[in-house]
Amino acid sequence: MTSTLRVADRVAFVTGAGSGIGQASAIRLAEEGAKVICADIDLAAATATADQIIGQGFFAEGYGLDISDSAGCAKAIDYTVEKFGAIDILVNNAGVNLPGVFHEVSNETIDRTLNVNVKGAMYLTRAALPHMLKNSRGSIVNMSSVNGLVSEPYLSVYSASKGAIVMFTRGIALDYAKTGIRCNAICPGWVDTPINHAHAKMLGGLDHVYKTIDSFQPIGRPGTSREIANVVLFLASDESSFMTGSIVSADGGMTAQ
Ligand SMILES: NC(=O)c1ccc[n+]([C@@H]2O[C@H](COP(=O)([O-])OP(=O)(O)OC[C@H]3O[C@@H](n4cnc5c(N)ncnc54)[C@H](O)[C@@H]3O)[C@@H](O)[C@H]2O)c1
Repeated sequence: MTSTLRVADRVAFVTGAGSGIGQASAIRLAEEGAKVICADIDLAAATATADQIIGQGFFAEGYGLDISDSAGCAKAIDYTVEKFGAIDILVNNAGVNLPGVFHEVSNETIDRTLNVNVKGAMYLTRAALPHMLKNSRGSIVNMSSVNGLVSEPYLSVYSASKGAIVMFTRGIALDYAKTGIRCNAICPGWVDTPINHAHAKMLGGLDHVYKTIDSFQPIGRPGTSREIANVVLFLASDESSFMTGSIVSADGGMTAQ
């Protein structure tokens, strides 16, 4: 009997799976039948996500990876293909947000932001593509941000990295459009996860941000990681088979203004 699960037996590699949106995406993909490699720079957190998924009766494995390490990314994809036979879904989700007044930001902030948010996605995509080409099948989902489309105070470097992801997504989509490989990006609005805490502090604290969230996110509340994970699942699955190069906002109306 054919499975009715939405990504049955697909092999999915999810970065930043130890927390927030990556964790929710790993869980959502596993619930719908994927074998999920939960990668994170924090191996304990990645393993905890995998354990949670296994505890729910689904399939997952934790993997420690700093996505800014190109050799490490190549090794991680090789490991995945050797162990699970393929890589069908790549979710380039891991990221950092190091806010600051631009004339005061350090080289370290600029380098780390671009190395993780931009180069990490490039390294993994480059490593995964040959395997996807062999199977004429693949879905790459990149996590951009509303800040890939519009900026906000203190986020010049982060916004630049997320804008790069928008254009990287379009470039990959075009180059591989006829191969069975699709590449799309998601632009979430403010979602309740730890990545925003430093930015919230600069804006007057998380409580203040949430009390005044109406002023920038019309839906009037932060998003949840699972709400973004549902979009990841849709783009990862064949339900989005006519979509490639799409930049999908999931932002409570923020960029509708
Ligand atoms: N939360 C939001 O409001 C929001 C909005 C738009 C976009 N995003 C994007 O969503 C993605 C996920 O963020 P989140 O909100 O779940 O944040 P989060 O802080 O909860 O999770 C980020 C995860 O990435 C991991 N990570 C950081 N650097 C890494 C590296 N070098 N290698 C591997 N893993 C690394 C962290 O350990 C962490 O587990 C990010 O790309 C972020 O920019 C988030």
